[in-house]
Amino acid sequence: MRKKVTIVGSGNVGATAAHWIASKELADVVLIDIIEGVPQGKGLDLLEAMPIEKRDSQVSGTNDYKDTAKSDIVVITAGIPRKPGMSRDDLLSTNYNIMKAVVGEVVKNSPNCILIVVSNPLDAMAQAAYKLSGFPRERVIGMAGVLDSGRFRAFIAQELQVSVENVTAFVLGGHGDTMVPLPRYSTVAGIPITELMEKSKLEALVQRTRDGGAEIVKYLKSGSAYYAPSAAATEMTEAILKDKKKILPCAAYLQGEYGINGLYVGVPVKLGAKGIEQIIEIRLTTEEKAGLDKSAAAVKELCDVIGV
Ligand code: LAC
Repeated sequence: MRKKVTIVGSGNVGATAAHWIASKELADVVLIDIIEGVPQGKGLDLLEAMPIEKRDSQVSGTNDYKDTAKSDIVVITAGIPRKPGMSRDDLLSTNYNIMKAVVGEVVKNSPNCILIVVSNPLDAMAQAAYKLSGFPRERVIGMAGVLDSGRFRAFIAQELQVSVENVTAFVLGGHGDTMVPLPRYSTVAGIPITELMEKSKLEALVQRTRDGGAEIVKYLKSGSAYYAPSAAATEMTEAILKDKKKILPCAAYLQGEYGINGLYVGVPVKLGAKGIEQIIEIRLTTEEKAGLDKSAAAVKELCDVIGV
């Protein structure tokens, strides 16, 4: 049977995710939004691109959750984006209210789906979706580590003038100013980047990664990044649909791992057909662990505000 992916929100992130997923022929795609016409228009436009792209993905848009029924994966991008000067945390209550409306409908129509949460503030919205859905933690995953690591990898590749394919990087913690890029676990063809770059240069790239979202908001002015965020959600979707058992940094509900309990935080996980099939615990230095704890505390503060 063909796989079905629903994308909630037909704005820049949602529509671009639909584009990546359809053009990789990963699944049929349904775009849904409360705004009338936009998901239908963008869905039809993408459908008409498929013969040119030589892909048989069906793409459609709707305002009715019935059309999303029995999705294998639902990617939630709905919510307002950041404007210059706003932090991801400023979106908290508005996007939580949107999440409440969305998750109920998703669960009703696709009770067995895997949820990938992209809305900001990411970790708190993943936690909200987990609590609102009643799904097991394996099936509610937050996107962020793949995006943040993607940014770090792009900067490393550019700095060292090497192929992005050679660069692996890990960014853990929440998707916010306290995220924890891990240079020790970031390599170029297996060589730790700590051996390839001066400390001050490395620290500058780490900081640029932390500020990566804001750097784009500053340029765009009227919104936030969407190519890299949607590409990240697509990589997670592909890992699940193809049961790849791929190790990716994602926001996962921790139950004692890394000494953190009852909270969504970015950690390395194994993604396969069941969703999160394993949470991988890597050894951290005291400093790295302190960074992760600080990041978790920032996530908890937001979750406490909305009571999730
Ligand atoms: C970013 C926003 C989408 O990091 O969180 O670009």
